[in-house]
Amino acid sequence: MKTILVTGGAGFVGSNFCYLLLDERPDDYRIVCIDALTYAANFHTLDRAEQNPNFKFYRENVCNREEIYKIFETEHPDIVVNFAAETPIDRTFSNPTLFLETNILGTQVLLDACRKFGIERFHQVGTDEVYGDIPLDRTDLFFYEDTPIQTSSPYSTSKASADLLATAYYRTYELPITISRCSNNYGPGQYPRKFIPMIINRALQNKELPVYGGGLNERDRIYVKDHCRGILSVIEKGRIGEIYNLGSSEEKSDIEVVRTVIRELGLDESVIKHYEDRRERGRRYAIDSSKARTELGWNPEVSFDEGIRKTIEWYRNNAEWVNGFGIVW
Ligand SMILES: NC(=O)c1ccc[n+]([C@@H]2O[C@H](COP(=O)([O-])OP(=O)(O)OC[C@H]3O[C@@H](n4cnc5c(N)ncnc54)[C@H](O)[C@@H]3O)[C@@H](O)[C@H]2O)c1
Repeated sequence: MKTILVTGGAGFVGSNFCYLLLDERPDDYRIVCIDALTYAANFHTLDRAEQNPNFKFYRENVCNREEIYKIFETEHPDIVVNFAAETPIDRTFSNPTLFLETNILGTQVLLDACRKFGIERFHQVGTDEVYGDIPLDRTDLFFYEDTPIQTSSPYSTSKASADLLATAYYRTYELPITISRCSNNYGPGQYPRKFIPMIINRALQNKELPVYGGGLNERDRIYVKDHCRGILSVIEKGRIGEIYNLGSSEEKSDIEVVRTVIRELGLDESVIKHYEDRRERGRRYAIDSSKARTELGWNPEVSFDEGIRKTIEWYRNNAEWVNGFGIVW
């Protein structure tokens, strides 16, 4: 049995990854989870994991070098998967320092710990936002692993920096790293202020559904468990030093997402409230994940319609979890 250290494991994607391992690979992995429990986390997300003897939790900030080293010294992880990150919602844009500290310096602390204590693999969980965006009418263009980085926000810049740091530790110190870059996730346990959970939760309460600038932005939307399976495939089968794009190839605009939720819940389209947004021209985010599909044999298993159905069901059954964030809709 290998010890896998999961940072940011109380967050959306990290917790789904923990449950994937606990539920589907109970004989293969023991999990040590580190999370600072920022505003984005709800500790109850890990309630079921806490019952499992193969799961151990540390409330810690990845930037705290001394404490992180102590955890490595105590737990001897074989593999480290770095999910911990400051991820964007409107109010975080007012403090870019947060992104740089957690996403870059926190990653450096973990890379240094991996060098000092020795590991089999450090996996950096990256995002397709490092590639920038594409005009809506250029349906011929896609992001590949060698597409130049063209970041546009403190978030994407900090995530690109973390990827580059990981690569630098591979090239300079031969640290065995891999990187995955995934498209937009949705599914159980996502912070309710993010777009899809916000739409679902408002729809479940018969509130109006806000759409800005026509809702034209098109994103590749992937069900979170498919992302987690992709990360596991990269860790188990990916080549050291390589980057793997992960995406569903199901591009959906914001307005299509809203219409899907409305259809699933049998609501009337009059619940949509359009707001003008002059900054919003509509952009496309399109990822090509054929490298992961051919090399690793990974393929997404959940279609968008099925994934949205599962996600609605999860939020319907977990109103208490949502209320734990104290959001007034
Ligand atoms: N959600 C997506 O669509 C998506 C897509 C591609 C990549 N990713 C990447 O996946 C990772 C997880 O994203 P998410 O959507 O689950 O975000 P999230 O905000 O739900 O979770 C992030 C977790 O990290 C923890 N955290 C934040 N700062 C920390 C710190 N300094 N020390 C320790 N823990 C800290 C938070 O408490 C939270 O539990 C991120 O690295 C993100 O860039 C996410």
